[in-house]
Formats: sequence, structure tokens, C-alpha cells
Amino acid sequence: MTTVKPFRIYNSEHSNLPTKIIGGKASGIRDWDNIKYSVFLEYHKQLFGEYWIEDEIKLGKDIEDYSNKLSEAERKVFNYSTGTLNWLDSIASDVVPILNLIITDPSIRSVLELISSFEGLHNRSYQYLTATMLDNQQKVEAFNEIREFPLLVKRNEIIISKLQTMVETISDYVLAKKEVDEKLLQAIFEGLLAYQSLEGLYFAGGFVYFHSLARDNKMIESNSLINMIRTDENQHSEIFGLIIQILMAEFPELNTKENMEYAMNFYRQCVQAEKDWSTFLFKDIDTLSIKEYHNYVEYLANVICRNAGMNEPYPENQELKSKWISTYGSKKRDGSDSDQIVSRTDFLQANTTNYAHESGEDFDL
Ligand SMILES: [Fe+2]
Ligand SMILES: [Fe+2]
Repeated sequence: MTTVKPFRIYNSEHSNLPTKIIGGKASGIRDWDNIKYSVFLEYHKQLFGEYWIEDEIKLGKDIEDYSNKLSEAERKVFNYSTGTLNWLDSIASDVVPILNLIITDPSIRSVLELISSFEGLHNRSYQYLTATMLDNQQKVEAFNEIREFPLLVKRNEIIISKLQTMVETISDYVLAKKEVDEKLLQAIFEGLLAYQSLEGLYFAGGFVYFHSLARDNKMIESNSLINMIRTDENQHSEIFGLIIQILMAEFPELNTKENMEYAMNFYRQCVQAEKDWSTFLFKDIDTLSIKEYHNYVEYLANVICRNAGMNEPYPENQELKSKWISTYGSKKRDGSDSDQIVSRTDFLQANTTNYAHESGEDFDL
């Protein structure tokens, strides 16, 4: 076990090449020719390459659509959806920098710094939507009423509780210079699963309403803005999936049957909470079918598990059935950048799926 030191901006005793993602040794100097996982240089370049600002999207036509084309129910769901997405991005903005305090691989820290900056841009993009279209009462719906919906509170609390535990545990260990132990690793493992639910399930799910409006030829510009965000979140989900794989490979003690069962149950719980909330949210909406949406949520849970090298909680739901979601949920019209399913399982020798192979046991899915 390695002593976790308080965050060090430079450590003269260690080499530039980091030893481990957590509790490791590294000088802190970014020598991009000498990093442990070369893929993080690719990600760092890709993230920079995708920088954008909300002003690139003009919303003039949507201002008219919002008043003239949307029904009262559709306006409310627009307000609530914008507010709930902003809530998630607010959490993301705070979690990522704190996670960086415990990560001892500087190349990963650099990538997470960029991800964190994108979350701030996303917050501002939701503000751009609300400031452009909503009056003061509607802003109350977007930013305050959403905090009172029991089904949404319940859905978010599932991940907030795990993220809060991760954040507090990291802070405790760093400040008290505690050894890296099972408790810390478990808190990070569970926190990262929750973060994946935020990035790959709740976000992606929240975007679908905007795609459904665009399919009906309404609020096209807002959907374009949402698709800028969506592309980022897909990428974040892919990167965090890889971080989970690295964590499991470097700390194989996390790779237990109990943890895999925990992950499957956790994601099923998240999916059920999203189904319950969306049934309520979309009850007066006919731009999308609730059944279709529920099916999509299960598919998304499979995507995030695949990205993390884990088994799928809904093995019978492997394919995207509602193709229009990728058509309208994409910056490109052919949908090729939507819900990227990236398998990096060849990237690491050991990953979570190996557990099932080694033991020869099948999980009770
Ligand atoms: Fe975001
Ligand atoms: Fe994100």
C-alpha cells in the first residue's frame, strides 16, 4: 500500500512516468512522450479539437417556435429538461476537479481538467437557452421547481449519494494522508459508476426530448446546441469507462463477483428511476413514445457497461431500436457520432470481463 500524499504540484523523488492511477508515484511533469496510457494523449488532443462556444448556435427561429409551435405541455417539459440537465452538469463541474486530487497519473489529470472545463461550458449553454427563451416564471420552473419533483429527486439522489461519498472519502484521505485502502478504492469505484450513470445515462436520456422536437420540426436550433453537448458527453462517458477499466486492472481486488453484481444492480436501479421519472415527465407529450424511451434507457445502460468493460445489465437490448434518436441526436446527419459504442477492452490485458472468464461463472443477470 502506498501513502496518499496531499496533492503535490511537483515531487522531485519520483520519475515523470507515473506508476498508478491512484496512490502512485509521479513527479507531476507532463512528458507526453512518456505516459503510461498513450490513449490519453489522443483524448487530450481530441478534447481541444472539439472546443466550441454556445454563441455559434443562433436561436432566433427557436424563439418563435417556443411561443408559436410548442404546446403548453411541451414548453413545460422543455423548461424542466433544460433545468435537469443543468443540475447534472453542475454536479459534474464539481466532482471532476475533486477526483483529480486523488489521481496520481498526470496525463489523466490533464484530460479531466479539460472535461471539467466542458462541463462549465455546458452549464452556460443551458443558461443561453433559458435566457433566450424563458420568462422569469419559466426560469423558476427550470431552476427551482425541478428540485421539488419527488421522482427526479429520487433519481438524482441515487447518484448524488455515491458521488458525495466519493468526494468526502477522497478529501478525508488526502487531508489526513491516509493509506490507500479498500474503503477508498471502493468509494471511488462506486462513485465512478455513479458518474457514468450521470454522463452516459441521465444526460443522454435527457437529450432525447430535444431530438423528438426536432423530428417534429420544432426547436431545431436548440437541438443543434444539445447535440454539441451530447457529443462531448458521449466522449466523457467513453473516457470514464476507460478510467474504470484502468482502476479495475491496477487494483484487481476490486474485480470481485460482489462488485460486478453491485454494478448490475446499481445500473438497473438507475434505469428504473429514470423510467419512473420520464413516465411522469412525458405524460402529456406526444413527440415521443414513453415505451420507446424506456427501451432506449436500457440500451444506454448497456453502452456504459460495455465502455467500462463490464457485462450488460440488459443483454436482450443490444441494438438501438429507435434509429431516429441517432439521426436527430447527432451533429452529423448520418448519426455516425451518436452514442459511440467504443470497445477499448483490448486496451488493457486485464479488465472486468476477465473476471467472468476466469471464474467460468455466469452472472445472474
Ligand atoms: Fe456536461
Ligand atoms: Fe460530461
